[in-house]
Amino acid sequence: MPVRQTMRPSFLITGILAALPAGSLKIATSLQWIEHTPQAYAIENFYNGSSAASLTSGGVFNLAADSSVDLAANAETQGLRVLPDNKNIRLIYVICEAGYRLVASRASGIETLADLRGKRIGTMRGTSAQYFVAKLLETAGVSASDYTIVAGGVCMRAPCGEGTFPQMLADGQIDAFGIWEPAVELGIQALGLDDAVVFQNTSIYREVYSLYTTTEKLADEETRGDIVEFVRALNQTLDVFTNQPESVYSFVADEIGMDAAVVEDVWTEHKWTGTWDESLLDFIVQEDQWLANEDGRAAVSEAELDEFLDESIIAEL
Ligand SMILES: *[C@@H]1O[C@H](CO)[C@@H](O)[C@H](O)[C@H]1NC(C)=O
Ligand SMILES: *[C@@H]1O[C@H](CO)[C@@H](O)[C@H](O)[C@H]1NC(C)=O
Ligand SMILES: *[C@@H]1O[C@H](CO)[C@@H](O)[C@H](O)[C@H]1NC(C)=O
Repeated sequence: MPVRQTMRPSFLITGILAALPAGSLKIATSLQWIEHTPQAYAIENFYNGSSAASLTSGGVFNLAADSSVDLAANAETQGLRVLPDNKNIRLIYVICEAGYRLVASRASGIETLADLRGKRIGTMRGTSAQYFVAKLLETAGVSASDYTIVAGGVCMRAPCGEGTFPQMLADGQIDAFGIWEPAVELGIQALGLDDAVVFQNTSIYREVYSLYTTTEKLADEETRGDIVEFVRALNQTLDVFTNQPESVYSFVADEIGMDAAVVEDVWTEHKWTGTWDESLLDFIVQEDQWLANEDGRAAVSEAELDEFLDESIIAEL
């Protein structure tokens, strides 16, 4: 049976996972975000592996830490953060490319990106959202030392509580914030269309929400067979998410505690791509250099990043 987000991680580890039959496919993923939901849909509707597949709360770092985890889903940022110390990690599939947005308040005197100089900007450090904010503001000549990053929480459904970015923006505790959906949409709705200014540039940055595994898992015949089956099921799912979205808004909303109407509002920010083109290598080379600088480590070589992008499972579909 698929394990879903209603279970807490500690419960998963001590309860459900221990009870899963050996051989079932274990997938570590955040269970909170829109981007993860095709996996739950794929398991429920299309997966024909040798035994059950289950989602557990986590991400690509679990692949490095726990050899019982077979697959993981996360933004490319997290994959790149785990890779330097775990060169056996492979990115094998792209579930979603999400165009992040930054919402600012006109009441804070913001009309253009350049107006964000000197402002308080909400985002989450160490994530794809911080990288997005940095890249977007760079296009207007605003560097990281020109603004203050303010920490806060996301929100999945209005009314957004104390300490969440939409509430902080509406109450003037921050001037803008940039992160994944639906927090930005809820921020726009909380401010009202007249006061909200929205910035996005997907050619500068989009989240590449990906599926990962390890070279060891790929080399294991039975696990590899199940990985291929799971990716086949995802491929069918992305077709539904792309071409019949109205049939999944409620499913997605229920999975992650959103209102279906807001899922629909943010749907176009998500492209259910399933694969990538050669521009992804250059994209991650640049991002890795930025992360290396942030984390005070050496950049990963382009040859290693090229190996990290492993198309062998897609080739088997
Ligand atoms: C996005 O950024 C690119 C590169 O800086 C620029 O050429 C393009 O005009 C930008 N697009 C938008 C919509 O601002
Ligand atoms: C799994 O089997 C079902 C029933 O035969 C089929 O409809 C579905 O397309 C299969 N899934 C994949 C990913 O091939
Ligand atoms: C994924 O599914 C689409 C149909 O939705 C199909 O055209 C495509 O060939 C599939 N991709 C792979 C790699 O099998």
